[in-house]
Amino acid sequence: SNPSLLILPGDGIGPEVMAEVRKVIDWYGAKRDLAFDVSEDLVGGAAYDAHGTPLHDDTMAKAQEVDAVLLGAVGGPKYDVLDFSVKPERGLLRLRKEMDLYANLRPAQCFDALADFSSLKKDVVAGLDIMIVRELTSGIYFGEPRGIIEEGNERVGINTQRYTESEIDRVARSAFELAMKRDKKLCSMEKANVMESGVLWREVVTEVGKDYPEVELSHMYADAGAMQLCRWPKQFDVIVTDNLFGDLLSDAAAMLTGSLGMLPSASLGAPMANGRPKALYEPVHGSAPDIAGQGKANPIACILSFAMALRYSFDLGDEATRLEQAVEKVLADGARTADLLGEEGVDPVSTSQMGDAIVAALDAS
Ligand code: NAI
Ligand code: MG
Repeated sequence: SNPSLLILPGDGIGPEVMAEVRKVIDWYGAKRDLAFDVSEDLVGGAAYDAHGTPLHDDTMAKAQEVDAVLLGAVGGPKYDVLDFSVKPERGLLRLRKEMDLYANLRPAQCFDALADFSSLKKDVVAGLDIMIVRELTSGIYFGEPRGIIEEGNERVGINTQRYTESEIDRVARSAFELAMKRDKKLCSMEKANVMESGVLWREVVTEVGKDYPEVELSHMYADAGAMQLCRWPKQFDVIVTDNLFGDLLSDAAAMLTGSLGMLPSASLGAPMANGRPKALYEPVHGSAPDIAGQGKANPIACILSFAMALRYSFDLGDEATRLEQAVEKVLADGARTADLLGEEGVDPVSTSQMGDAIVAALDAS
């Protein structure tokens, strides 16, 4: 049977960028004889408007069955007044939680044509292609005890960093598997010098590494890692780290390469019966209400998220590379959505013009 994909466009620019992904999917069906069983459903504010809930149970069930879920973005000012329990974000959080997506993959990839756009020197970022794997379901954001308590005559804010061996083991395995598909180099970051969870993290990652003798494993304190990421990011291939450090390091790494409109992501869970991980792919950006409905959104983050799905859920690494090269080609030819325009005097292309150009580049590939 064909690989199955559930598409959840969501709110704001979500449906606009997803329309461009549909063009790419259609191209694969027509020109490469790669048919996907695509179903589409509502999430976020759009689902709330239709069903009074940001994620219908039927949609949740579908997400559990398909090979991969591709999500646009959720949220918008219209929904700010809603009760916390039905806010658009809750739809996304429910997907992540019930699919148990514990490994968040955030690539930082610099297309040569955009190297000038980075805040760093061109030779530091040109050709950069690294991947940060952030543990997503445990650590200090979830650990108990937590809360604000009275102690003596003042209040104390408490969060607990807590990792079990199995939680570290499974995210480490995701990172090693990824390293095997890439340059076989993995750097684990923690603070084993001052944190118990860091000591355990280093031990467990080292132990898992014995199952991946081909992967060159190194360890770095996360603060030194932050410095090295800015100084010479090309020394890394895959980085694995916990939820808190991963939150900071992946946002910092993202900005090495430029616009929010360019950044894809994946969240992976346990392997399914077919051996592939449960997976949700989504651009890093939100619903961008400030530009929604104007044809200004950059569809590349969402298109590159689909490329990640090709590589990690469908084992179509060559096709993922083909798609990434099509994006590279279009950028090299000078096409820029408004978010990619630093210099004066260049007319931006629209969302759909960018999608059309990428499909044309695929056609020529
Ligand atoms: P945002 O990512 O939506 O927008 C931040 C800025 O980047 C805006 O100026 C926007 O125009 C620009 N931008 C974002 N994506 C772009 C693209 N593809 N092309 C061109 N420009 C782009 O973040 P913001 O403004 O903080 O949040 C807006 C809404 O999105 C809120 O309701 C928020 O809760 C939601 N949100 C949803 C996320 C998700 O669905 N995963 C993630 C982040 C925010
Ligand atoms: Mg963050």
